[in-house]
Amino acid sequence: MKIKIENSSTKKTSLLCGFVLENSDKVLGLGKLDGKTSLEINQSVKDMDGKLEQLSLIPVPKGKYAKRILLAGLGKKENLTKDTIRLVSGKIAQKARELKLKEFSIVAPPSFVAEQNSLISQIVEGTKMSLYKFEKFKTEKTNNSPDLTIVVPKSNNILQATKRAEIVANGAIFTKSIANLPPNQCTPSTLANFAKDISRKNKMRCKIVSKLELKKKGFGGITAVGQGSKNEPKLIILEHNRGQRNEKPIVLVGKAVTFDTGGISLKPGEKMDEMKFDKCGGCTILGIMKAVSELKLPINVVGIIPSVENMPGGESYRPGDIIKLYNGKTAEILNTDAEGRLILADALAYGEKHYSPKAMIDFATLTGACIVALGTNVAGMVSNSEKLIKKINQSSENTMEEIWELPLTQDYMDMIKSDVADMKNIGIGRAAGTITAAAFLRNAIENTPWVHIDIAGVAWTQIATKEKSYNPKGATGFGVRLILDYLQNL
Ligand code: BES
Ligand code: ZN
Ligand code: ZN
Repeated sequence: MKIKIENSSTKKTSLLCGFVLENSDKVLGLGKLDGKTSLEINQSVKDMDGKLEQLSLIPVPKGKYAKRILLAGLGKKENLTKDTIRLVSGKIAQKARELKLKEFSIVAPPSFVAEQNSLISQIVEGTKMSLYKFEKFKTEKTNNSPDLTIVVPKSNNILQATKRAEIVANGAIFTKSIANLPPNQCTPSTLANFAKDISRKNKMRCKIVSKLELKKKGFGGITAVGQGSKNEPKLIILEHNRGQRNEKPIVLVGKAVTFDTGGISLKPGEKMDEMKFDKCGGCTILGIMKAVSELKLPINVVGIIPSVENMPGGESYRPGDIIKLYNGKTAEILNTDAEGRLILADALAYGEKHYSPKAMIDFATLTGACIVALGTNVAGMVSNSEKLIKKINQSSENTMEEIWELPLTQDYMDMIKSDVADMKNIGIGRAAGTITAAAFLRNAIENTPWVHIDIAGVAWTQIATKEKSYNPKGATGFGVRLILDYLQNL
């Protein structure tokens, strides 16, 4: 899908699309365009009421500027959010695909709908992301991606905003495309190879730590969880160094369990297939690093991805085992299904020790409890830094990737105390499962500002997931847009 910017709609297009507010008889942004096109469109507005995501397709058999017109409802003006244009643009793109078009045009609405850069981001992300389809394993592909022209009144810096938005959208799509891979086609080595690919194309440093080295260097969490699978564990490290030489980096960490059976504490069979998505945190970091390098952001960012397959077998770690984590603390294993915190603890401790980062942010499909607490549209967040939380919350508002903070006080830290080791890898019963998991992670680091984001509910579409055009079935790439907004605003 190519995206072009034009300053008028005088070139004929197969589909000219415009946004309409509820109960309005105007197509937004059209006033400034060529008179005749306006006329053709304005005739048709009266036939639709502009309800959110409502589409009205009007053939214009003798149209001079468009073969068809598509009016897209935005709903009530007072209900506009920073997601509305993204959602509706996605609907438009899917309609263009359904009509098997080679190209379509969208008239950008005026900036009261959203501030200019946000508007462009929303149109670009909405259209691109909604056209992504996981078809790699279908013999017959149905995916065609029509090109888009965005029609704007004047182009002040819009070209740059468009290019940036395309890179961001591509990052999210890349994350979706690898997160959707089945567990027999995506092992820790596969992810390591993706990381190498990205680093080669965009001049990042890439380091892969192998099973033997992990064991030697004291990554007790990754080693224990990974030992039950013939697909060996990997620790993947990507470095983007475009900041000052001595500037401390932002370290991003992502859980990448390519398949989580639960191990010896085997999960029930129902929906176990969905545990291919237990690598989503790591995939999010890969998508972010790809985009960060393509955007050439003038900062230092490190991506760290501990990747394992959690399998039961003769070599698996067991309930009762006591292991030593990278930072030297010991952990009593009481449930091998609480594996994410073990591999993340190693990665976080490594990140803090080797990079003395300005901040650390981790993403993980860490706990089913997060779905119980917050459902499938909002991610959980636990942190040790109000300042960092504030910035992440701002980016969450900008991108509409929703998160909600949960508390982490001493009482929760006490809930993971073990009788026989420094801590245990589960809390007390089902109580506050998301927070006790975060408490375990908190023990892996000293005082680096840190935010943990539990994406168990939001990383892929589940039964209760709100339908969004730009997140069709499967992985959502949650977090890519959020963190790229945070990094671009640093
Ligand atoms: N990957 C799962 C968490 C998960 C479950 C994510 C369902 C998304 C949907 C994680 O490794 C896990 O199994 N956690 C356990 C922890 C428990 C044993 C303390 C859980 O949530 O049940
Ligand atoms: Zn698990
Ligand atoms: Zn897991």
